[in-house]
Amino acid sequence: MVNVIGLGYIGLPTALMMASHGVEVVGTDYNKELVATLNAGHTTFKEDGLEELFQEALSAGIKFSTEYQVTDIYIVSVPTPYDKFSKKVDACYVVAAVKSVLKVAPKGATIVVESTVSPGTMEKFVRPAVEENGFVIGKDIHLVHAPERIIPGNMVYELLYNNRTIGADDRAIGEKIKGLYSSFCQGEIVVTDIKTAEMTKVVENTFRAVNIAFANELARICRHDNMDVYEIIKICNMHPRVNILQPGPGVGGHCISVDPWFLVGDYPSLAKVIDESMKTNDSQPDFVLNRIYEIMKENKMTDVERVGLYGLTYKENVDDMRESPTLQLLESQERHLATGLKVYDPFVEKDVVDNQYHDLDKFLADVDMVVIMVKHNEIKDNMKKLKGKVVLDCHNIINLPGVYHI
Ligand SMILES: NC(=O)c1ccc[n+]([C@@H]2O[C@H](COP(=O)([O-])OP(=O)(O)OC[C@H]3O[C@@H](n4cnc5c(N)ncnc54)[C@H](O)[C@@H]3O)[C@@H](O)[C@H]2O)c1
Repeated sequence: MVNVIGLGYIGLPTALMMASHGVEVVGTDYNKELVATLNAGHTTFKEDGLEELFQEALSAGIKFSTEYQVTDIYIVSVPTPYDKFSKKVDACYVVAAVKSVLKVAPKGATIVVESTVSPGTMEKFVRPAVEENGFVIGKDIHLVHAPERIIPGNMVYELLYNNRTIGADDRAIGEKIKGLYSSFCQGEIVVTDIKTAEMTKVVENTFRAVNIAFANELARICRHDNMDVYEIIKICNMHPRVNILQPGPGVGGHCISVDPWFLVGDYPSLAKVIDESMKTNDSQPDFVLNRIYEIMKENKMTDVERVGLYGLTYKENVDDMRESPTLQLLESQERHLATGLKVYDPFVEKDVVDNQYHDLDKFLADVDMVVIMVKHNEIKDNMKKLKGKVVLDCHNIINLPGVYHI
């Protein structure tokens, strides 16, 4: 039996996927409300294919509990934020989860940490936690790091087809865990050592962050000198060895806006490009705020309450708002001692910010200017409704005359 610890965006689909492929699974989360929701037969977030997968896993006998189970394999998928001051990974959730597991784990059990961690975290934080509890690593407890690569919005597909990395001290244990993931994963699974596995995951997200920052920087240069960044990127990408990403309103989510900071925190004198890239991405919502101001001035608009932000989530067609550029922009508005921007997102049903709407038509009726912060399919399908509005399109998706860009 596998006990998956942490049933959030990563742990839940992983647990469901294993269960629906014949593995006996108990999912454990210390959030009682979340476990009660799952036990009542409801999923806890929206994701393509998740509901179907949930039903399959229920039929296959998956269980959800707040208790840690006595078993031989644990998969830990708990949050790994970064310390806002030092930028280092904050491993406190991982360590706490491992300590809870150790209270029930029998000798010979394997603890697989799936959470994203910076290189050396298992060595610095997890190993001591295990040893302090009297276990001998490699004999009483085996440690594995198996980072996850799936992207919200396409999680179920990517769980099935992405390649994976397994880091283990002991090759045989690595192969055993590879066998477990092979129950559902059709991608290639590489077995390596723990520190390499830790580093690869962080490097992958850092690669993405640096490339996004480059596109955002180009947008700023082009804006400064009145050049069309989209046309320029399109032409540059016709070069056989150039592949520039698209600029946007900023970076959010639990990975690309977080993980690269781990390297800045651990290697401050070496990770210079990464540091600058993260600062560029983090200041992009401020850049958008400034664009709103410029465009309002150009259109002789003075009432900020007639400006609406379309989209609150960190990416399109998901309900995850963590670190989202819109939330960052609203925070920036507040820091400038201003209020009034209206907000609407079709995926966010709860009221989470001031002046939030839950109906596209009502939202549009109350604003003269719309800022496209997220490229949800809804707005692509309802583009005509933006006619007559001043539009700042941060994603270059609105095909209407007179649209402004970042
Ligand atoms: N969300 C993503 O897109 C994504 C993608 C790849 C990797 N990751 C990584 O996966 C890890 C998990 O991220 P997430 O997005 O699933 O987080 P999440 O916040 O959605 O879920 C974490 C869950 O763990 C539970 N939890 C925390 N400590 C616990 C403990 N000691 N015992 C039991 N339950 C506990 C919380 O209640 C929560 O439900 C992070 O390291 C993240 O960086 C996330």
